[in-house]
Amino acid sequence: MAVHITYQQQQSCFKLLILIRYEQSEYDFKICEMNPGERILKLRETIEHHNDLYYVKSQPEIQDVEYDNLMKELISLEKQHPEYDDPNSPSQRVGNDTNNDFVQVRHDYPMLSLDNTYSPAEIADFEDRIRKIIPGEPIEYICELKYDGVSISLHYEHGRFIRAVTRGDGEKGDDVTANVRTIRSIPLNLKGKNIPAVFDIRGEIFLPRQGFEKMNKEREEAGEMLFANPRNAASGTLKIKNSSVVAKRPLDCYLYFIPGVEKDFTTHYESIMAASDWGFKVPPYIQKCSGLKEVFNFIELWYQDRSKLPFDIDGIVIKVNSYRQQQLLGFTAKSPRWAIAYKFKAQEAVTELLSIDYQVGRTGAVTPVANLRPVLLAGTTVKRASLHNADQIALLDIRIGDLVTIEKGGEIIPKITGVKLESRTPNLVPVGFINFCPECHTPLVRPEGEARHFCPNDTGCPPQIKGKLEHFVSRKAMDIGCAEVTIEQLYNAGLLKDVTGFYELTLEKLLQLERFAQKSADNLIKSIVASKQVPFERVLYAIGIRYVGETVAKKLASHFGGMDQLMQATQEQLVQVGEIGEVIAGSIVSYFSNPRNRELIEKLRDAGVQMSGSVASGKISDKLAGKNLVISGVFKNHSREELQAMIEAHGGKNQGSVNSNTHFVVAGEGMGPAKREKALKLGIPVISEDDFTGMIQ
Ligand code: IVH
Repeated sequence: MAVHITYQQQQSCFKLLILIRYEQSEYDFKICEMNPGERILKLRETIEHHNDLYYVKSQPEIQDVEYDNLMKELISLEKQHPEYDDPNSPSQRVGNDTNNDFVQVRHDYPMLSLDNTYSPAEIADFEDRIRKIIPGEPIEYICELKYDGVSISLHYEHGRFIRAVTRGDGEKGDDVTANVRTIRSIPLNLKGKNIPAVFDIRGEIFLPRQGFEKMNKEREEAGEMLFANPRNAASGTLKIKNSSVVAKRPLDCYLYFIPGVEKDFTTHYESIMAASDWGFKVPPYIQKCSGLKEVFNFIELWYQDRSKLPFDIDGIVIKVNSYRQQQLLGFTAKSPRWAIAYKFKAQEAVTELLSIDYQVGRTGAVTPVANLRPVLLAGTTVKRASLHNADQIALLDIRIGDLVTIEKGGEIIPKITGVKLESRTPNLVPVGFINFCPECHTPLVRPEGEARHFCPNDTGCPPQIKGKLEHFVSRKAMDIGCAEVTIEQLYNAGLLKDVTGFYELTLEKLLQLERFAQKSADNLIKSIVASKQVPFERVLYAIGIRYVGETVAKKLASHFGGMDQLMQATQEQLVQVGEIGEVIAGSIVSYFSNPRNRELIEKLRDAGVQMSGSVASGKISDKLAGKNLVISGVFKNHSREELQAMIEAHGGKNQGSVNSNTHFVVAGEGMGPAKREKALKLGIPVISEDDFTGMIQ
C-alpha cells in the first residue's frame, strides 16, 4: 500500500521510489524501486485480487479506503503513462461517456434456450427420453438455480476478456462489451491453470433485489419511469449507451455454462469448478443429484426458500452432468436434450379486498392502491398491492369485498391478478375510478395516450408541492440540507409555497418556528446560499420537469448551454438531442409553455441560482480530450461563452487564435476572413455549430 511516492527522472525513464507497507504487517515499511510500468501492473493485479475477494468471494480483506487509495494511485499513474493503457485495467470499470454502438456479433456457438416445464411429470418424461437414448446407465444430474436476468456470452482469449455479447436471436447478439466491463464480478484477466486459449463462457447478468429497489427509488424521486422488475432493469441497463451510467448500477453475473470444452473436462460440474478457479463467479447453489428423487428435493427446497435469496430466480435448471452422455443425447433444433428448465409458478395467495386508496405523487400521477386483508406470501405479509390505473380496475372488474388472487412474480410489489368471481356476493358494486383529486379536489385529467390519471393542480395540491420541494432539496438536485419533516413544517407555516420559497427564508423567519434553534436555522440558510452555486444541469433536474431525470438534464444542459435557449427550444429541436424522444420533448415544451413555470424560473434566476454555462464546472465527458478548438463568429443557438464552457465540459481546450496545434475551428456567422484563411492553409477543419454539438452528443 503506497503511503508516499516521489518521482525521479533518470534519463528518459521515470523511476518510482515507493515507500510501501510491507505485505500484511501494519508497521513494517520497506523501500523498493519499481518503474511505473511495473508498479501499474502490480497495482492492477492487487486491485483485481481485492475485486475477486469482494465481488466474487464476498470475503473482503481490506477497508474501502485502502482500496480507494490503490485505485487513486493506479489512475494517477495511468494518466501520466498512457503508453500502458489497457482496456482490461480495473480503472476502466468506471466506464466512459462515449456513446456505445451495439454492433451485432455472431456467436461461435449458438445460444440455445432450454425446454421449459411446470410439472414434475414432465421431468419424468425428460428422463424417459434420456433412457431411450442411453439405456441402462446411471444418469447423474446437476441442479442449478434458474437466474432471472439477461443471458450473456463472454469471450476470452489467452486469459483476457475480449467481448460480451447478448443472446439476440441465438445466432447473433449485440456487443455490450463496454457495459459488461463495468461489472466488478466479471474477471478481466483470468488466473489459474489449464485455461483454454480461446473460449466462450455463458451466464446470466442480474440485478440483486436490493440494488433494484434502490435504483427504482432514485428513479421515482427523479420522476422517471420505474422498472417493473429486476430483470427489466438489468436488461435496460445493459442497453444504455453510456457505460459510466452502467458502472453505477450494481449489476452482477453468475456463469453456468462453457460450450465446446468436452475435450478438456469429463463433466459439466468439473468445468464449472475450473471456471471458479479461473476467477469467475459461479453459483454456490449447485448440487449433484444421482436420481430424480434428489432433483425433486432440490426443486422443493428452492421453491420454498427462493424469497430468501438476494436475487430473483424463476425455476431450476436440470443438466445431465457427463459430457459423454450429453454428446450422446445431442440437441433438437431449439435446445439441448441433456437439460431442462423447471419453471416455478408465480407465488400466489388469495385474500379480501378491503378498500382502495388513491395516492398522488410529485408529478400529480394518481395511483390506486388496494388495501388487503393481511396474508402471507413468499415469506412476507402483504397488506397492500398496486392496482396500477383505471384500465386495470376495469379489466379486473374488481369490487370492494371481492376475494382476489395476488401474485409475487418478478415484481417486488405484489399485483392483483384475478378476482374469485365464484365467491362474489351479489351485493358488491363495481369500483369507478375517482374523478377528483383525493387531496385537493381538483377534477382529474387523463392525457391522451396515458394510462394514468393526473391531478393538474401542480401549484396547489399539497402532496405535489411537498413532493416537488423534497425533490428540489435532494442530494443530486440542489443539495439543501432540509429534512422531510422540516419541509412539512415550513410548508404548513406558509413559508414554502413553491421551491422559490427557499430563497425567501431568513434567519428571523426560521427562528420564530418551533424546534428551530439558532444553529439549525444557520445551517439551513447556509445550505440554501450554497445551493446558488449548484451547476445548471442540477438546477434543471431540481425543478422537476416530468421525465427530466439526472441524465436527461445533463444532456440538455450540455446541448443548450442555458435555460434561455432551452425555454425557446421547439419539440423538433429537442428531439435532435441524443436520447431525447417525443415524450420527454413534449413534457419539456409543455412545462415551459406554462407562464407560472416561467415565473418560477425568473424568481430562481433573481435569487442567484445558476441558469447557464455551469456545465463547465462539472466535467461531462472526455470526447474532446486533447483537442484544441477555436471559436470564431456569431452562433445561432449558443453564445460564445456557452460554447467555450461546453468545450471545457467535454475535456477540450479553448484557443484564442488559430495555430498549428489547433484541431478544429468552430465557425459562426461573420467569422474573420484572416482566421478562415489561416485554418485552410494549415489544413485545420472548419466546422459549424451543429457539427460541433454533434461531436459532443
Ligand atoms: S444453461 C444450452 N443454466 O435460462 C443451455 N441457463 O431458456 C445453456 N438460465 O437462455 C443454458 N439460469 O438465460 C442455464 N443455471 C442456468 C440458468 C440458465 C438461467 C437462462 C439462460 C437460458 C434460459 C433457458
